[in-house]
Amino acid sequence: MATRNILKMGDPLLRKISKPVESFDFKLHQLLDDMEDTLHSVGGLGLAAPQVGILRRVCIVEYDEKLYELVNPVLIKSSGKCVDNEGCLSVPGFRGLVERPESIKVEYFDRNGKKHHQCAEGYFARVFLHEMDHLDGILFADKMIKKIIDDD
Ligand code: CO
Repeated sequence: MATRNILKMGDPLLRKISKPVESFDFKLHQLLDDMEDTLHSVGGLGLAAPQVGILRRVCIVEYDEKLYELVNPVLIKSSGKCVDNEGCLSVPGFRGLVERPESIKVEYFDRNGKKHHQCAEGYFARVFLHEMDHLDGILFADKMIKKIIDDD
């Protein structure tokens, strides 16, 4: 068990383009394990490697009690449009309404380098797209059409 520090908006590392993973090695497995521990320690639907300061194309999504480990994910199909609210562990204090595709297909590799495809719709698709945006230095706050301030 090891948790890592989550960078917050304003940190320049969150704005970098992450590099593809080339070695599906122990270091990658350790990163994924730590990201999972970190996500579980704070709660949330997903986490991307640049949020813990690692500029590699790695993210995790936890949805309907299933954990997806995405290495070098690529959006290969998308259709429709929908607007919903989202937040981010790196952007505390507010959420926002963001327009995203309704339906997507993503190609990615697992931690052992095996290729997979995943179709997703609605909020499940949104979480994938939000995490994949982090790999290109994009935060939901850049795309939001309306800001929603948290009440607490
Ligand atoms: Co985020």
